[in-house]
Amino acid sequence: MTDEKIIVPYKGQQAGKKEQVASMFNTISPKYDLLNRLLSFGIDIYWRKRAIKLLQSEKPKTILDIATGTADFAIEALKLNPDKIVGVDISEGMLAIGREKLKKKGLDQRIELRLGDSEKLPFSDNSFDAVIVSFGVRNFENLERGLADMFRVIRPGGTCVILEFSKPRSFPFKQFYDFYSYRIMPLIGKTVSKDDSAYRYLPESVRAFPDGKDFTAILDKVGFRKTRSLALTFGICSIYTGKKEK
Ligand SMILES: C[S@@+](CC[C@H](N)C(=O)[O-])C[C@H]1O[C@@H](n2cnc3c(N)ncnc32)[C@H](O)[C@@H]1O
Repeated sequence: MTDEKIIVPYKGQQAGKKEQVASMFNTISPKYDLLNRLLSFGIDIYWRKRAIKLLQSEKPKTILDIATGTADFAIEALKLNPDKIVGVDISEGMLAIGREKLKKKGLDQRIELRLGDSEKLPFSDNSFDAVIVSFGVRNFENLERGLADMFRVIRPGGTCVILEFSKPRSFPFKQFYDFYSYRIMPLIGKTVSKDDSAYRYLPESVRAFPDGKDFTAILDKVGFRKTRSLALTFGICSIYTGKKEK
């Protein structure tokens, strides 16, 4: 495991990060999609599209979306025309909103949502052509274990695509973004979701999380090859890719 400080949503509580994260997402799930659109000014939709496009040439037939939440990334992955998409998440609340959404869109036969932990994925080795995660890895209790299990379930020759917040570094965007994420975002987040901590945890967890080469180094360590990172929107967000070699 890397030695970053562990950032949890509810600082005074005894529960470990995994339980706290599941509980936080259960609480905010009814407002999660709305807050995503509001806080990112809708750019999160474009980020997911960009990430999925990177898989277009590979035509994966079986896709696993880890930390699927309300299933937005899984729905975007339907554009790849796979035979099967499975989404797993540790939050029943997020999955319930996701299932409702799939039903409304008539997609519940095309995407299966299951309760599951990224560190102990309920799938056998080499089962998926592609494994995708958007805004999930930062929330894992044990990042390296989660990435290693992701590697295990991808078939040789398969690919992982990970979308995650990163840290903008250039002046003056960094200063603007710090102000926005530490001052404005928690206020809006608290007002809309009624959870005092969730949208303070977000910028704090981003700050403590490895990005760019630090993140691809961990992908390399768990076995991925040809790892790459691609920064989007001044570095607010990055896409990471890696291959499991044949
Ligand atoms: C920020 S949401 C992202 C949801 C979705 N992928 C999206 O792009 O909107 C993070 C999700 O990660 C899930 N999560 C956190 N730790 C997890 C773990 N160990 N295993 C599975 N899911 C996890 C949370 O429950 C939550 O639904």
